[in-house]
Amino acid sequence: MSVDPVLARIDSDLPNSLDRLLELLRIPSISTDPAFKKNCDQAADWLVADLQSMGIDASKRETQGHPMVVGHSDGPGPHLLFYGHYDVQPVDPLSLWHRDPFDPEIQDTPKGKVIRGRGAADDKGQLMTFLEACRAWKAEHGTLPCKITFFFEGEEESGSPSLIPFLKANADELKTDIALICDTGLFDSRVPAIVTMLRGMLQEEITITGPDKDLHSGMFGGAAINPIRVLSHIIAALHDENGRITVPGFYDDVPDLPDDMMAQWENLGFDHKAFLAEVGLDTLAGEAGRSALEMLWSRPTCEVNGIGGGYQGDGFKTVLPSTASAKISFRLVGQQDPHVIRDRFREMVSAMLPPDCTIDFISHGASPASVMSVDNPAFDKARAALSDEWPDPAAFVGSGGSIPVAGYFQSILGTESMLIGFGKDDDQIHSPNEKYDVDSFHKGTRSWARILAALTQG
Ligand code: BES
Ligand code: ZN
Repeated sequence: MSVDPVLARIDSDLPNSLDRLLELLRIPSISTDPAFKKNCDQAADWLVADLQSMGIDASKRETQGHPMVVGHSDGPGPHLLFYGHYDVQPVDPLSLWHRDPFDPEIQDTPKGKVIRGRGAADDKGQLMTFLEACRAWKAEHGTLPCKITFFFEGEEESGSPSLIPFLKANADELKTDIALICDTGLFDSRVPAIVTMLRGMLQEEITITGPDKDLHSGMFGGAAINPIRVLSHIIAALHDENGRITVPGFYDDVPDLPDDMMAQWENLGFDHKAFLAEVGLDTLAGEAGRSALEMLWSRPTCEVNGIGGGYQGDGFKTVLPSTASAKISFRLVGQQDPHVIRDRFREMVSAMLPPDCTIDFISHGASPASVMSVDNPAFDKARAALSDEWPDPAAFVGSGGSIPVAGYFQSILGTESMLIGFGKDDDQIHSPNEKYDVDSFHKGTRSWARILAALTQG
């Protein structure tokens, strides 16, 4: 089965492929907000119907949360699993969007055509690259080149609470020779990338309570403890003057980057000044003495993702608030155990509380870092296939983001993952005005056709 007619069909069918993607983007499948539960269901139904329209045996599987979608297609050769997520991030602040996030359109921009809308890049546009490659393959050859299991999740953006039980309950059905995940980016617009390591994630929400009610800051201020002051003190203490995280034992299981990998990353010629300039910045703000790619790919971080307390409305209110809260996340690397880090973080901040203050913790997820098996021959085959499609050869890279499913495929199914995606740094994922380049979508679809050919025939 030759890939050339498949590539030609992908080219000629691009307008229809884009129309199908726009349909999926119109469904506001925000997984974290219960108000959009029906829409998550609707997106799952859409995917089931899309798979069925290609002759794939697909069904929606209920969970405690949002449904999974599973499809099977028989065929010769290796058995692949493809994973993507149909849920998207919330859209707020809505006022910063230039159009309705769920009324997507193709726009002409000075840098080329883009698909604008929530989920365009993360992850609906990306998952559709694989589906469209399969559609073209099937249309051209009457069958897919190998046995493929399709697996779509609707809770990736909200910590995947149903994922582990689902994988455990359906391990025999989902176990394959290798899993392909399309939820990462290119190295740059000329250089495609295969991600070899992902950071883990620990998400903690803390609420500090002082007085049992909001107080007048003139009547009580000075005498009564202010929980925002306590919270600020705790947050300020999480990093030292060199940008290192101060949670006791935090770096115990953080490995040194092997020299060969360090050299390989240096060879990538990453321009951190240009990377920062894209977002109006100039100066690296991570751990002293580390390169930008280390900071992004191989070092752990602690970030405050949100903070609240007191009066936040218009004007001014001289309140001494009863509570203050923060959402704090840690990106983890190496063998850092998210549960151990969680315990140490909780002990550290609890020990910093002054008299009369209490603290509540809510966990929003904990998953370890993962490292891919690049020795698997699939990696070199995919690298060659990508290099045929893009101007420059494909690179093996790290990724700063977290995709917990890759680790769970490994530990629960015994299936290794290969992460290939076509997003760009300026896609504004998780932000207002998210976009996916039409070029990413088109060349991404062509890339998957080539990768399927390489994995099954190479
Ligand atoms: N697609 C992203 C992960 C990603 C981001 C990979 C940037 C490569 C570059 C994914 O949907 C995501 O945002 N994951 C969350 C996971 C978290 C909620 C456990 C993340 O990384 O914050
Ligand atoms: Zn994603």
